Formats: sequence, structure tokens, C-alpha cells
Amino acid sequence: MKNILVVGSTGQIGSELTLKLRKLYHLDHVVAGYVPGAEPHGLVLESGPSEIVDVCNARQIAQVVDHYRIDTIYNLAALLSATAERAPLRAWDIQMNGLLNLLEISREKHCALFTPSSIGSFGPQTPRDDTPQDTIQRPTSMYGITKVATELLSDYYFHKYGVDTRSVRFPGLISYTKLPGGGTTDYAVEIYYSAVRGEEFVCPIAAGTYMDMMYMPDALKAAVEIMEADPARLVHRNAFNITAMSFEPGQICEAIRQEIPDFRMRYEVDPVRQAIADSWPNRMDDSCARQEWDWKPEYDLPTMTQDMIQHLRQTFE
Ligand code: SER
Repeated sequence: MKNILVVGSTGQIGSELTLKLRKLYHLDHVVAGYVPGAEPHGLVLESGPSEIVDVCNARQIAQVVDHYRIDTIYNLAALLSATAERAPLRAWDIQMNGLLNLLEISREKHCALFTPSSIGSFGPQTPRDDTPQDTIQRPTSMYGITKVATELLSDYYFHKYGVDTRSVRFPGLISYTKLPGGGTTDYAVEIYYSAVRGEEFVCPIAAGTYMDMMYMPDALKAAVEIMEADPARLVHRNAFNITAMSFEPGQICEAIRQEIPDFRMRYEVDPVRQAIADSWPNRMDDSCARQEWDWKPEYDLPTMTQDMIQHLRQTFE
């Protein structure tokens, strides 16, 4: 039986991943780590243990790891891309100094560690279409710089110290339970909220801007499966390209109109987010993940759209 610590358990990914891990591995064996000001509530609070775990506080993390005999850590503490551009030093502190704390604790206490990377780890010189697993990265955003460094440091700790680090490059993640905060791909979540509320959506990303996206159930599946994968089959570790779909704003708008025919959208492009989106791939090649640990998403744009709208209608109606 695993003993798991989720760092950042109240964020967009963490709040759903904590519940999924508790279902899979036992309620008491998954600790929800949070920082003051972002306390867990509802099911995350009620269904298992929670502890204050600031990724920048090594002593605090070590105490929780010892107390619960943690052997696996999911590190989901991060500032997303647009927020990181507004607070680059804070993003560096959380993403890099926080990661080093977790890597050192994982080395000392023999924990496996998952720290997600992102489409943000790529940059303007990266091949845009069918972006290969191993290619030029050189991102231009602080978010991307921290993600490339995360990949490299995680591989370094695996090769040098044998720490079981594994990860994926998440595309934009779409979910109905918790809004993301300050990401470039957030528009693809917010658009559904506008549609279900019967409002016009003002799109901050320009027509024709393709980005990889994924529905949250597939992202959670990936996070579990990569950590369960047979290590003998893994040629890569940090981090695997994974994708489920690629679309531009007009296509998600059309998919929503299949369900809500009078939905309206207009463009008001945000230059900060557009510059970031322009430096990211149109679509990644995720064949290495498919070969090395049988990665396969379940949702495409139409099935995700139906499910999102159905769940959001229950929330708002
Ligand atoms: N969804 C993230 C962002 O837009 C990318 O990983 O910042």
C-alpha cells in the first residue's frame, strides 16, 4: 500500500487528484498538503488527512513525510504561465526552490516524486507540429524556464541518486470542479462557464491559435499511470509528451454550439497570453508515452464538451 502526499492539494489538479488517489489507494493513505489561505474544504477535507505543507519549507515537508511514512509525493505546487509572468521571482521560488526541497527529501527518505511539466516547457524554436518527445525547448516565459529546469533536475536526481522521478508534459487542462488560475490555456475552461450561463464569451486568445488540451479525467489517469508504470519499460522519465486533442478557439466555440446553438464568442486578445501561446506547440507527438507506458486518452473535443456542459448545467441550474 502506498502512502502518498499531495503537495498543492487544493489547486486545479490537486483537488481532483487527491480524491482519485484516495479512491485508488485508501482514504487514510493520501495526505492533502495545503498552504494557509488555500485550505481544503468539502470532500478533500472530509475524506482523509490534511496537513500544512509549504513547498518552500523543507522542515515542514520532512515532518509530514516522516509522520505519515510517505513513499510517493505528487508535487502540484506551481504558479501558472500568465501569473508567473507577473511574479517571476515568486514563480522561481515555488517551482525551483520548492522542487529542490522535494528532491532532497525524496533522496533522503526514498520517495517517488511526480512533478508535472507542461507544453510551456517548449519555446519559439521548437517544431510546432507533431512536436517530438526530444527536441529543442528553450522557452521564453518564466513558467517554461522553471518547467525545463524541473525536467532536468528530476532526471538528474534519478541518474545521480536513483530517485524515482517520473512526469508528463501536461497540455491545457479542462475541468468543471475548480477553475485554473492565471494560465494561458484557461480560456478553454472559462468558455464553458460563459456558455452554460448564457453569456457571450470574450476570448483572450486569437483565432487560429492551436494548443494541446486534455480533459481532467485523462490528466488524472496519466498522473496515476505514469507512477504505476513498469520502470523497466521507461526509456524516458522527465517528462513525457501527452495530449488528447488540439484545437483553436473557433473549434471549441463550434463544438459548444453543437450543444448550445445560440452561444456567442468575440475576440479581445490579451497580448501577454497570446505571446505565450504563440511560443507553444500546435500539437505534440505523444508516441513515446503510448509505447513506454500505454498512454491513451479517453476524451476528444465533442465528448469532453458534452460532459463539461452536462456537469456545469448541474452546478448552475
Ligand atoms: N495550462 C498551463 C498554463 O496555461 C500550461 O501548462 O499556464
